[in-house]
Amino acid sequence: MQYYKNQQIQVDFLKKVLDINPSSRILDIGSGSGYHIQQLQQVTPAVFGVDIKKPDCKVDNFIQGSVFSIDLPMDLDGVYLLAPFFGKDWDRYDELFAKLSVSVKSGGKIVLDVFNFNYYPIGGGFKDFRVLKKKIILSDFVRESQAMVCNRLIKFDDWSEIKNSIKWKVFSMTELDALLLKYGFKSLQSFYDYNVHDVVNDSQVLTKQKRSMLLAKL
Ligand SMILES: C[S@@+](CC[C@H](N)C(=O)[O-])C[C@H]1O[C@@H](n2cnc3c(N)ncnc32)[C@H](O)[C@@H]1O
Repeated sequence: MQYYKNQQIQVDFLKKVLDINPSSRILDIGSGSGYHIQQLQQVTPAVFGVDIKKPDCKVDNFIQGSVFSIDLPMDLDGVYLLAPFFGKDWDRYDELFAKLSVSVKSGGKIVLDVFNFNYYPIGGGFKDFRVLKKKIILSDFVRESQAMVCNRLIKFDDWSEIKNSIKWKVFSMTELDALLLKYGFKSLQSFYDYNVHDVVNDSQVLTKQKRSMLLAKL
């Protein structure tokens, strides 16, 4: 499933900010459809992907499993986490960074999507609906103190329906800075909407939603 309107823009963004070249070793965490891996493997064969679900397309170097339980590839030059939803593990960033601090080379970079729902006051939120070919998805987003929760009702064309709820981490900058410091990373830059020219400055930090942070291993 596609989680961003134009995945090719994301691929071009990753190539640029992670300096991907034919000898780079790259890891996609929560690789979803596999599109990004497939495209980046045209630049370097050493693009690895991990996801609990199988990709939609055929890709090499894919590991099916949870990022919290598998051994990550070593000597990584780059890692990216695009739209990272970890379900019940939404708050396990400490463990994740502990693992990354071992697997990422010194000077290696990470792209981390930070959905910046700080924009919404606690208790606030918004509603959204998407009409697709065979289903309608109604989403109710509610901001909690450490997370954003999305309660979803999916109605299919045979009138059956399912309900689910997803939750993802909302970082405060102080919390994120402490995490980076603890595991030997630093923040280089933040970008909005996968646009290398749209650098997020500090005053926008809490307001721009589609924000990707570029981190480096010290
Ligand atoms: C919102 S999707 C994003 C997919 C892809 N990165 C993209 O942007 O198109 C989040 C992905 O994380 C995966 N995921 C959830 N928990 C995971 C875990 N513990 N380890 C690895 N992947 C996980 C899901 O299966 C899903 O494919």
